[in-house]
Amino acid sequence: MEYIFDSHAHYDDEAFDSDRFELIESLKDKGVCAVINCGCTPESTDTARSFAEKYDFFYFASGIHPENIPSPEEDEKVFGKIKELAKHKKCVAVGEIGLDYHYEDGAPRERQIEWFEKQLILANDLSLPVIVHDRDSHADILELLKKHRPKGVVHCFSGSPEMAQEVLKLGMYIGLGGAVTFKNAKKPVRVAQGLPLDRLLLETDCPYMAPVPFRGKRGDSSMIALTAEKIAEIKGLRTDEVLKAGRENACSLFGVKV
Ligand code: NI
Repeated sequence: MEYIFDSHAHYDDEAFDSDRFELIESLKDKGVCAVINCGCTPESTDTARSFAEKYDFFYFASGIHPENIPSPEEDEKVFGKIKELAKHKKCVAVGEIGLDYHYEDGAPRERQIEWFEKQLILANDLSLPVIVHDRDSHADILELLKKHRPKGVVHCFSGSPEMAQEVLKLGMYIGLGGAVTFKNAKKPVRVAQGLPLDRLLLETDCPYMAPVPFRGKRGDSSMIALTAEKIAEIKGLRTDEVLKAGRENACSLFGVKV
């Protein structure tokens, strides 16, 4: 009964330091058939690569997160590393990449845009999908996706249902995670309502965004069952239909066989 495909996880996070490999090794028994561990820096991407080499059901994405933009003199070295890792046979996407305008002390917007664009171009050059992070930056994200037309997913989707329709028109997928289960989740619920089942990806973003009743605690990939249950309730479907769609969509987008 391995049917959960977690399209977005961070098992390199220090929250897993005490029991990382024990936990990863328990996932298959909890129904998890595949995990994509996303990179945020050259170091975390390299760690994600090591997980993918160690475990047959782990894959990874290579990328620089908008919160980890290097200083300009490091640009070339960092980009070279991301590019090299992206060519690994178990690298299935460029990510996570995008824009994050939430923090006032974050990298300047021009620098975030510069890095997002060059990683979009890298993904297109390598024929890889992208895993996009969008926090408080909806308009710029949409404009750049329209410009570069990558394959991929907008993960932990936080935009409006109208923006979701724009993303779908570009042929991309929408990633939904624990946020749909939160009590105050109005937008994600409306997005889930209008989302065709063949464009849904399921994800955790663990250790973050654990679904209710684990909100605020450390998440792991098995908790996708709870997220799928909520999406099923919203859409009037069975949980196993939602899990199956999430799995099949991820396999098709990332070129993975489970
Ligand atoms: Ni993430």
